[in-house]
Amino acid sequence: MIISTLFFVTIFTFLLAWCTRSQPRPPLPPGPKPLPYVGSFITMIQNKPAFRWIHRMMDEMDTKILCIRLGNVHVISVSDPKIACEFLKEKDEIFSSRPDFMSSYLTSDGYLTTVLVPSSDHWKNMRKILAVKILSSTRHKWLKSKRDEEADNLLRYIYDRCEINFTVTGGIMNVRTIVQQHSSNVTRKIIFGSRYLGKGSVDGGPGEEEIEHVESLLIILSYVYSFCVTDYFPFLRWITDLDGHEKIMRNAIRTARKHQDRLIDERIQQWKDEWAMAEMMNQPRIFDRAIHELDSVIGKEKLVQESDLPKLNYIKACVKEAFRLHPSAAFNLPHVAAVDTTVGGYFIPKGSHVLLSRIGLGRNPEVWDDPLTFEPERHIDGDNEVVLTDYNLQMLSFSCGRRGCPGVLFGSTMTVMLLARLVQGFTWELPPNEPLVDLKENLRNVFVSGDLISGAR
Ligand code: HEM
Repeated sequence: MIISTLFFVTIFTFLLAWCTRSQPRPPLPPGPKPLPYVGSFITMIQNKPAFRWIHRMMDEMDTKILCIRLGNVHVISVSDPKIACEFLKEKDEIFSSRPDFMSSYLTSDGYLTTVLVPSSDHWKNMRKILAVKILSSTRHKWLKSKRDEEADNLLRYIYDRCEINFTVTGGIMNVRTIVQQHSSNVTRKIIFGSRYLGKGSVDGGPGEEEIEHVESLLIILSYVYSFCVTDYFPFLRWITDLDGHEKIMRNAIRTARKHQDRLIDERIQQWKDEWAMAEMMNQPRIFDRAIHELDSVIGKEKLVQESDLPKLNYIKACVKEAFRLHPSAAFNLPHVAAVDTTVGGYFIPKGSHVLLSRIGLGRNPEVWDDPLTFEPERHIDGDNEVVLTDYNLQMLSFSCGRRGCPGVLFGSTMTVMLLARLVQGFTWELPPNEPLVDLKENLRNVFVSGDLISGAR
């Protein structure tokens, strides 16, 4: 009996080993050959900013999925919608965590916010509270009057600058300041019940405190998940600050916290309207079509209201096109693999950081015709309502799955309303001697490189 059991166990073990051997592990996605221990870290530092280096490599290697080893972490960059869906839809459960990074730890005050916290029961509870208590459609309706107040303030501020203070301002505005300040005004209004952190300024615009606050939030946003050395060599964390990221983050966080508590930095987005305005000014036919839509849907006598937004398909298509072509960051927030798995036929080791490329998806020539041209019409499909989400991940606006953005309704309403009011309320012109807006991206990030200075009437 013992001998026959041993015999069967041996045969079974042998068969198991044979089967495993006959199914070799799939390869890692293509990528540069890593050095022992440091991986490709040195090359990455020599080629900063990392996101441009990664995209260059994807082009050179002609691949839509790339694997780079940094320290002992596999960083996987993806610009193919099918593979992206496999990560965030079919295998969503495996990829619903976030990495533990210095920047995310400091920004979220030890992971007290939903966006950055690694997967845990705490994260699940926070998401539930957000969905039910803060970002529900009932709460959205309840907060309408506060958003309306800010939409009116926006017009009043631009009007005052252009008409009443014309002698001082020459009617010239920085569209970036308007867009950034408006989104934070609304957020502050909703969270604190006040648009000002301090006294504000006499013309109704941002005061010193608001400018300082938004600037520090934008620094935080551009340094969260920005390939900091100690994130890939965690034993160095809190001991050294080799690339200076920690000092920059700590200073920006200190400044932001001076004016607020951590609730607000949960999500202050650079709304996409600055890029939309810049592209529309360069192509007057797009501006004209947007104005025509506003005139025919709303008329010239009335200001656009939130209830009109579902009918403004062209304005929404302009916003969506700005999301596609000019995302606010090169990559989506990282997702971490909880176990070893296979995606797109490649081996994805446990602990890999998956970065869906917003630039790569939105500008993928196999998906989008003439991808570098701003063309809102591509999102219009007969009379179907244009929505800003894209759950097929052909571009990345609000993402999807367990980590998908719970603020879709709030974010869409704010972004579309802001653009509609800017287009409807004023005639926008480029300053004299500037025939076109310079649409170059900043080398270090994907923001408009210069200020979008414009005259409003
Ligand atoms: C135009 C505006 C917005 C855009 C484009 C946007 C987009 C995104 C994206 C791409 C993600 C990451 C999804 C992923 O990891 O796959 C995200 C996450 C998130 N967003 Fe938004 N968002 C916007 C506005 C908002 C607003 C207004 C709020 C709330 C007030 C919000 C709350 C969140 C939260 C809490 C998460 C983290 C979800 C999690 O990790 O579980 N977002 N958003």
